Amino acid sequence: MDKFVIRGGEPLVGTVRVSGAKNAALPAMAAAILTEEPVILENIPDVRDIQTERRLLEAMGGEVELGYGRAHHRTTICMRNLAAPEASYEIVKTMRASTLVLGPLVARTGRARVSLPGGCAIGARPIDLHIKGLEQLGAKITVEHGYVEAAADRLKGGEIVFDKITVTGTEDLMMAAALADGQTVMQNCAREPEVADLAALLNKMGARIEGAGSATLRIQGVPKLKGARHRIIPDRIEAGTFIVAAALTGGDLIIANCDPRHLTFTNKLQECGVKISHTGDSVRIQGDNPLQGCDMTTEEFPGFPTDMQAQFMALATQAEGSSIITENIFENRFMHAGELVRMGANIKIEGRRAIVRGKTPLSAAAVLASDLRASASLVLAGLVADGETIIDRVYHIDRGYERIEEKLRAVGAAIRRIGEMLPKRPALVGS
Ligand code: UD1
Repeated sequence: MDKFVIRGGEPLVGTVRVSGAKNAALPAMAAAILTEEPVILENIPDVRDIQTERRLLEAMGGEVELGYGRAHHRTTICMRNLAAPEASYEIVKTMRASTLVLGPLVARTGRARVSLPGGCAIGARPIDLHIKGLEQLGAKITVEHGYVEAAADRLKGGEIVFDKITVTGTEDLMMAAALADGQTVMQNCAREPEVADLAALLNKMGARIEGAGSATLRIQGVPKLKGARHRIIPDRIEAGTFIVAAALTGGDLIIANCDPRHLTFTNKLQECGVKISHTGDSVRIQGDNPLQGCDMTTEEFPGFPTDMQAQFMALATQAEGSSIITENIFENRFMHAGELVRMGANIKIEGRRAIVRGKTPLSAAAVLASDLRASASLVLAGLVADGETIIDRVYHIDRGYERIEEKLRAVGAAIRRIGEMLPKRPALVGS
């Protein structure tokens, strides 16, 4: 298992480019299930979750072609030969977002068999709302032996009101409704930019979706969808992680290739004293301001994203005064706090609230990455800690960040990856 070794204290200076959004790329790849024609996706990030989704689509009979050289971030998917409409436990357990194939599979083939994701490190994360929504569209659902089985001759448009806002739930049902018979109206939908990006792709494929980016979606089902070419939006969470890195290290960093309209959380960072200026598709962070603590609550878009909560906590440890962080979306998303405390942070957890008292100097320690965004917060802490921080289990960070250590090193961070030395295999003796 790879580790990161980080020597803190280097300010980040220069320009770093943001990759395509993993959370927009995953549903876009699942959307290819809806058509027999090739779907060409540009700006696909080279991260582990994308490789997992590729394996998932290939296991169903899909052809997934990755670009080379300059086309390295292009992926072409053709699901003409969709032989096995299934997502196995083996794949779903490593990536919950695999459940995004449920809606498209039943819409295209009339059946789907998808493993229940079970719990994950940050909470129970059920998919009951995906299931309930598909039933509203006329699918017969059974749950047996840990698998959801869905069947429908043809889905029928209907009214769906989400009890709770769900990002992948909105995406899953939007894909299903795109091929249903008649109109579907979905209320209390997620308004994340990744949902709007999926709607844009589906409309290029011939779907008729209105209202993307708002809480109400109107979808006029069509009998068939066609292939399309689409460029995935930039990753707002990766951009946010670099913003915090620049602010923490007192650097001067240009974060290029992002969409500042999606960075709604920058208001909160500015409240903490982070100096941010926007120009076109980049933001510049000048980290010469002192940071001050402030309270933050995670919310659905356009509120402060739960996927930036851990990074915000790292920032709060270096801000003067106290910050109360309330996690509203997931019930168990403070695992990074214990590791930050081991590095010298003063953090108290009370249920869904974390109280951070700053500013405390951080000192390097051996720490363990527990989930994707938790690992990002440990990297950020390592960038300002005194000494050499060693982060174990960085495969969590590789799930969603493209070569983060190379990007950070290019702007001055002292970070390197070390692989575990495996014992050499004995040489095969020929017969
Ligand atoms: C997506 C993102 C993830 C982000 C999260 C919240 C992807 C691939 N992942 O995850 O990075 O942290 O949104 O912004 O886009 N819920 C239910 N029943 C359901 C579905 C969800 O109770 O059927 C609950 C969840 O447990 C959670 C809340 O709703 O408490 C929001 O979850 P949801 O928006 O569905 O998260 P994901 O789509 O899994």
